[in-house]
Formats: sequence, structure tokens, C-alpha cells
Amino acid sequence: MTPASAHDIQPSGPGRYLVTGGAGFIGSALVRALLARGQRVRVVDNFSTGLRRNLVEVAGQIDLLEGDLAQLSVCRAAVREVDYVLHQAAIPSVPRSIQDPLLTHEANVTATLNLLLAARDAGCRRLVYASSSSVYGDSEVLPKVETMPPRPRSPYAVSKYAAEQYVLLFNDLYGFETVALRYFNIFGPRQNGHSPYSGVLSLWMAAALAAEPLTVHGDGKQSRDFTFVENAVEANLLACTASDAPGRAINVGAGGRHTLLDVVDALEQALGTRLPLRHADPRPGDVRHSQADISQALTILGYAPRVSFFEGLKRTVSWWQEQAEPVAQEVEWT
Ligand code: UD1
Repeated sequence: MTPASAHDIQPSGPGRYLVTGGAGFIGSALVRALLARGQRVRVVDNFSTGLRRNLVEVAGQIDLLEGDLAQLSVCRAAVREVDYVLHQAAIPSVPRSIQDPLLTHEANVTATLNLLLAARDAGCRRLVYASSSSVYGDSEVLPKVETMPPRPRSPYAVSKYAAEQYVLLFNDLYGFETVALRYFNIFGPRQNGHSPYSGVLSLWMAAALAAEPLTVHGDGKQSRDFTFVENAVEANLLACTASDAPGRAINVGAGGRHTLLDVVDALEQALGTRLPLRHADPRPGDVRHSQADISQALTILGYAPRVSFFEGLKRTVSWWQEQAEPVAQEVEWT
């Protein structure tokens, strides 16, 4: 199959989409991409990690439901008259899951099971689930292929894997079409840099622009397949209609790998300045290296990572530089 560009992808015919976690960083990117393609979009979010400011510019164009998917009644209301469910809502943090595994379980597993039941019963066409590269854990084999046995190392990784298994079971047991996308360290504009639980790139951008040192956990030689958010958006759109996708867990990455020290270098270049570092202990539950094999995404979805790591980094830096005011005051952590 020839890979399609995100700009070419048109979901087949007008559809009604539910984006769970649509106020989040990845969710709101999906919302904007769907609206740009003329689709009807509902968002459900409890604003526990999502930010209202991510939806300000599209507020008049979406149907916004505020509620918690851990309540089945909220799921039932959210999926009404929906064709495709893009399930992004989660508490996306390894350290936060270690601190509060039950909260992570409720938000990531209970909510997903509720949503599956509601979407199946409502006759939705397909559900695409945001799974995670963390399910692979710390096996030494690189790149990570979908056939590898999972070895989750944190409550977060367990929760993503458990929910993924529910998602795939609904395909096989009930015939409700589902796809799991295993995201590899997605980054880009709008990722919250002002929560201690956020991804490393956004934390470092916030620190760099505040002229504070960047915290490096461990030696900085651990590596990740940092993947620009537009690539994840493209994978989701493709997964809604790809005929061989249902019942599968599919890696969504860029297929490369960069150490944290490489990232520091790239940020220094993009910002044109030296960045002071502060070394800290390695984080519990951390994986040493991560890199995706993306051949399944290519053959099953027709996906290719259009935006490279360095291009994505440039766009992310520009976005941060354009932000007139910090967003810290809008974030409330419970
Ligand atoms: C993991 C998953 C990822 C998932 C994410 C959700 C793996 C390989 N990846 O990301 O797919 O989307 O959880 O949260 O399991 N670090 C610093 N300084 C900081 C912050 C982080 O050095 O200020 C280090 C961490 O110790 C880690 C790396 O940066 O080694 C990446 O951390 P982070 O961005 O939080 O993502 P992962 O935990 O890798």
C-alpha cells in the first residue's frame, strides 16, 4: 500500500466522531484535523489533565460534553449517534501511576471498559484506542515489534495493556470493530509543560524558556522514538477505515531513536543557546531504550511518519516561542 499524506486522508464520507480526552494535547490535535476535513465532532473530557484553552478556537464548532468516562452514564451519552470513537482520554504518566495506581486504573482501564460497552451497544462503527509503547517494557530487543511479549514495568503500562486487551477482545468476542495504536512518545505543540507529570520535551521547553535548568534523570543516554503529534493524528484517521486494522495492536512511532542528550543538543541548536542541565536520579519504572518497528502501520494502515523528529522539534519550539503567556495558572492538579 502506498503511504498517504495526512493532508490527503479523507475519512470515507461524512462521519460523526467522538474524541475522548479531546481537550488534551493529542485529542485536541485530532479535533482540529477532523474539523478541517468537515467532520462532525463531539468531545468528552473531564478536564483532569486536558486544558480548556486547547479547544478555545474550535469551541463553536464542536459538541462538548464535560464528564468522567469512569461513569457508564457519561459514556452512554457521549457515544450517542457517533460513528467513530477515538479514545485518547487517560492519565498519561508513568510516575503519576506509581504514586496513585488506583486513579490510573480507573481513568485508563475502568473508563475504557465502560466506553467499549457503551460504543458497542450504541452501534458505533469502530473504536480506535490510544495504547502505549510502554507495554513492551524493558526487553533489550530493538525495534519493538507487535509480536513481542509485553513486559509492562509500571502501573501505567499495565493499565494501557489491560485496556488494550479489552479493546481487542471486543473485536473478537462481540464483533465490534476496534483497533489499538501503540503510541511511541508523542510530542508537539500544546503538550502541557507545566505539570510535573508531562512528557520530557514539553517540560524541557517550559524550563528552557523560563531560563531554568533542564532536569535529566539518570545519565541521559536512555533513548526514545520521539514521534511528532501529526503522525499520530494521521495514524488515527487511517485506522478508522483501514479494512485489515480491526483486532490489531499497531505501533505508531517515527521508527527512529534519540537519546535525551541528543535532544538537548537539538534543542540548543533550535534555540540558539546553551541549556544548563541538572542531573537527577533515574526514574523508577523507566524503560532504557524504545524504538518502534512501524512496518505493520505501513502495510495495514498505509501510514508513514511524514514529520521527522527534527522537523517536529522545530515546529514545537516555534509554537512555544509564539505563546505570549505561560499556561501554568490554568492547570489544576488534584
Ligand atoms: C512513557 C511511554 C510513552 C507514553 C508515556 C506517557 C515508554 C518507552 N514510553 O513515556 O509511550 O506516551 O509514558 O507518559 O514507556 N525525563 C527526564 N527529565 C524530565 C522528564 C523525563 O530526564 O524532566 C526522562 C525520563 O526519565 C525518561 C525520558 O525522559 O527516561 C522520557 O520520559 P517521558 O517523556 O515522561 O516519557 P516515558 O516515560 O518514556
